[in-house]
Amino acid sequence: MPVVAIVGAQWGDEGKGRVVDMLAQQARMVVRFSGGDNAGHSVVNPHGEFKLHLIPSGIFDPGVVCIIGNGVAINPKVLIGEIDRLNERGVDTGQLFISDRAHLIMPYHLLLDGMEEEARGGKALGTTLKGVGPAFTDKAARLGVRAGDLLDKKALKERLGTVLEYKNVILAKVYGVKPLSLDEVYTQYCRYGERLAPHIRETTIMVDEALGRREMVILEGAQGALLDPDFGTYPYTTSSSPLAGGACLGAGLGPTKIDRVLGVYKAYCSRVGSGPMTTELKDETGDLIRERAHEYGTTTGRPRRCGWFDAVAARFSSRINGLTGAAVTRLDILDILPGLKICVGYELDGKTIDYFPASITELARCKPVYEELPGWQAPTTEIRSYEQLPLEARRYVTRLEELISCPVNLICVGPERAQAIEKAPIF
Ligand code: IMP
Repeated sequence: MPVVAIVGAQWGDEGKGRVVDMLAQQARMVVRFSGGDNAGHSVVNPHGEFKLHLIPSGIFDPGVVCIIGNGVAINPKVLIGEIDRLNERGVDTGQLFISDRAHLIMPYHLLLDGMEEEARGGKALGTTLKGVGPAFTDKAARLGVRAGDLLDKKALKERLGTVLEYKNVILAKVYGVKPLSLDEVYTQYCRYGERLAPHIRETTIMVDEALGRREMVILEGAQGALLDPDFGTYPYTTSSSPLAGGACLGAGLGPTKIDRVLGVYKAYCSRVGSGPMTTELKDETGDLIRERAHEYGTTTGRPRRCGWFDAVAARFSSRINGLTGAAVTRLDILDILPGLKICVGYELDGKTIDYFPASITELARCKPVYEELPGWQAPTTEIRSYEQLPLEARRYVTRLEELISCPVNLICVGPERAQAIEKAPIF
């Protein structure tokens, strides 16, 4: 059975959790490979309705091993809370494992995320304030504390001593706040370590063994390609790579091991946080989509900016991810609209371009060039086969396929597992 990376192909919130939960029924392993608890994966299944931030969306199937990979920044407090809440609702987490190489979110990361955003003033990035950016900054600066450090108290104290000395200077001298106490942070993280120890281990061996047994492995992304720090709308991006390439680095397997890359696109666009969004609708259609789809952040509750499907950005995302297929989610949200628009090009300083500019000042000047398609104005939530979709809905989907240059495998018409249409097999 193959290895499939499931990645967000827009600005996050495309419904990756929902797609992973559905496909995990065929899998034996799900590895979350990037981000932190800035992500919020909503899942509705026979166990109930859940919002996962760190735990892979395959956790509901007892036959599936779930790994939080080395590429994830983990806030241990949030993780323990998430484990407890799942257990209270009868979901077993005995098969949840944490890479000993995963970096931890520390109390100073949370403080710094807030104070750095405040210092940016009108140029704030609109982060989720979960400390994820500062944690990945420390990873690159070689100042991180990793999950494996929790297993050795003596080494943890030494490590924390070195790092806190440096961080406290920044907290006190740059931001004028009270330094953190080494003893308090140490005691708190020792407690987290005791609780999480049974889950922490070398996980690349587990992944390799699953590959050796030819089991189906899902690599679950977080956020979306347009928030990638290299290819997204930098600096209005996140801080770890949501791309299929990031799946190799964040799960600990080589690119030759990935058989399929499934990009998850919403049937329209949404974005939370700052930065350019060419197809944003600041009118009643945007409000209608937001309210109908309840487009409010799973992690922060912030209203999401909504707009038409941006095929220029979508094609770029397909290319840099090497997508072999796509899932189009939330098609049912468009059911009531009389007409639909797809952005097929950008007008930049009087010229039409068909690429996604690197510069956000250029992107902010881009005006969408739209193609209009008729809506279907009929409910699709009960439809389970592609042929039964209204003709206009099929035309919309096939036009998206043409524009993003990749086949659509799956169409979602509601949050529940069954509310999906297989257009073409993924494998
Ligand atoms: P950070 O990842 O919290 O540092 O936030 C950086 C940017 O990424 C902000 O615009 C956030 O709104 C956005 N972001 C981070 N995580 C997600 C997510 O899971 N979905 C959508 N946007 C996200």
